[in-house]
Amino acid sequence: MINSNENEIPHIQFKDVYFSYPEKKDNLIFKCNFSIDKPGFWMIVGKNGSGKSTLLKLINGIIKPKNGIVKCKANIGMVFQNPDHQILMPNCRSELLININQDISDYEITKKIECVLDQVGLNGFEKRPVHTLSGGQKQRLTIASALISNKNFILLDEPTAFLDQNSQLKVLKTIKNLTSDYKKPVSALWITHRYEELTYADAVAELKNGFLSNWQEPSKFQYK
Ligand SMILES: Nc1ncnc2c1ncn2[C@@H]1O[C@H](COP(=O)(O)OP(=O)(O)O)[C@@H](O)[C@H]1O
Ligand SMILES: [Mg+2]
Repeated sequence: MINSNENEIPHIQFKDVYFSYPEKKDNLIFKCNFSIDKPGFWMIVGKNGSGKSTLLKLINGIIKPKNGIVKCKANIGMVFQNPDHQILMPNCRSELLININQDISDYEITKKIECVLDQVGLNGFEKRPVHTLSGGQKQRLTIASALISNKNFILLDEPTAFLDQNSQLKVLKTIKNLTSDYKKPVSALWITHRYEELTYADAVAELKNGFLSNWQEPSKFQYK
């Protein structure tokens, strides 16, 4: 199936959004306003329990706001903390195959698989069994899955939480490359509690006590 959204620039907008879980009376997300309307590497930082994953669920429509408006015109691919919860197939090629949602020839499929593996720095990994990949390589495979299904907006929920520093850097650089590609840049929203990752972002907002700050330059954030 060809997705008509494929070539459009994704657009996400929150207008005065409030959210609380049913059994809690206090708002977890409070008067939240932000938009993402161009490709780039966007990051939201916040401590554990600050509501970051909840914000992502509001973006992709898993939960609805108590008040306010969430507009999301994007073809979203998700990357979670633990790639083992997300990867279904035994090797890289078969994992990517199940994510191709287009009716294309075998030749085109092989080319596409090569292309997305190249984009995430996993050239030549077609036949590699998933269980032989490092955590960082698995995360990059999940990113390749999003690319091969023509997602134009990748939401990453603490994708480096289980990774060592070397793998963390490779995943960060993969997203940096994809979002700064001059021909067809991807939009990515990266959620983290690790302040040292912010330097890779084009813009950063902080979620604190229910409030999301405005987008700011990463250099405005002190390493905490
Ligand atoms: N389904 C849920 N029902 C009730 N409370 C929840 C639910 N999911 C998360 N929470 C609570 O909401 C708060 C924020 O959670 P979360 O969005 O996961 O934060 P973060 O991703 O920043 O660690 C936490 O106090 C958490 O316990
Ligand atoms: Mg979370």
